[in-house]
Amino acid sequence: MANPSLLILPGDGIGPEVMAEVRKVIGWLGEKRGLNFDVSEDLVGGAAYDVHGVPLADSTMAKAQAVDAVLLGAVGGPKYDKLDFSVKPERGLLRLRKEMDLYSNLRPAQCFDALADFSSLKKDVVAGLDIMIVRELTSGVYFGEPRGIFTEGNERVGINTQRYTESEIARVARSAFELARRRSNRVCSMEKANVMESGILWREVVQEIHDKEYPDVELSHMYADNGAMQLVRWPKQFDVIVTDNLFGDVLSDCAAMLTGSLGMLPSASLGAPMANGRPKALYEPVHGSAPDIAGQGKANPIACILSFAMALRYSFDQGAEADRLEKAVEKVLADGVRTADLMQKDGGTPVTTSQMGDAIVAALEASL
Ligand code: IPM
Ligand code: MG
Repeated sequence: MANPSLLILPGDGIGPEVMAEVRKVIGWLGEKRGLNFDVSEDLVGGAAYDVHGVPLADSTMAKAQAVDAVLLGAVGGPKYDKLDFSVKPERGLLRLRKEMDLYSNLRPAQCFDALADFSSLKKDVVAGLDIMIVRELTSGVYFGEPRGIFTEGNERVGINTQRYTESEIARVARSAFELARRRSNRVCSMEKANVMESGILWREVVQEIHDKEYPDVELSHMYADNGAMQLVRWPKQFDVIVTDNLFGDVLSDCAAMLTGSLGMLPSASLGAPMANGRPKALYEPVHGSAPDIAGQGKANPIACILSFAMALRYSFDQGAEADRLEKAVEKVLADGVRTADLMQKDGGTPVTTSQMGDAIVAALEASL
């Protein structure tokens, strides 16, 4: 049987550095676990713009459609801030999401015991936190029409449209209920049904799907602004949160920071099942390209490595190896190995990006 295929898109800023550490993990799995991947690599974001004049070439898009999974580093940087909106690095990422139809974006916010002190919240509020935000990723105000900047009379007007069809809501709701069944079996759906018709429909459809197909899952509804407040008040009340594209963007940054460092959090964007039964998928760290520290060996590769762990679990049917990799990360953190972003309280000397990768591979080795 052919090896599973993985397309790596390192992108901009710290993307290439953190991806190099994932490559070490991939190498180790091949050598020590007999788990080999057909890895190809291509350009996205500013790196693609520099070569092709667009943030995602059609040939790269075609490759992404053909592989079992895509792993992306990060896109964007000050060099590209002045570019026309249509060719900004972010458009490359949005094109991948839209054309691969990756409607379900899983953003776990998990607090590692060793890092509970790093949160801006009190330790007992975040210790042991393990929640999952499921963000709708291919519709809503990010993509709704009409959109644009128009002229009305003698002034300009900026327009974006929040738009959701029943089927778009239903499919992301199903994905949240399925996930909840494998976790603590609770889903909280967030919208603004008090002010938006799209929110009213969202609430109705989530409830219908629940009643018909997932009556065993505990479902609650919350207005998204209250949800933001509850997330910082007592985040452990949640298990799975399902919400739309824009609320999910904001709430997931909030949830991410509860855990102390953005450098730790992975994400998976999943679509409909392919011929092999696994979902179309793109994995990426939640953090951005961090241009201020790019190229200095300061970046934390853990979010990207944990994104690859999610790929092992959701795309490659290698749950046991995903567990092994996540445990290796926990072990390294428990041993006090810290990149610069994790140094604010501990003091001591930070390790480099590459040393963190090596420590994780050593922990994998020790797990055998
Ligand atoms: C995210 C980011 C993106 C988004 C940007 C980079 C387009 O903030 O993945 O959360 O807004 O979706
Ligand atoms: Mg965001």
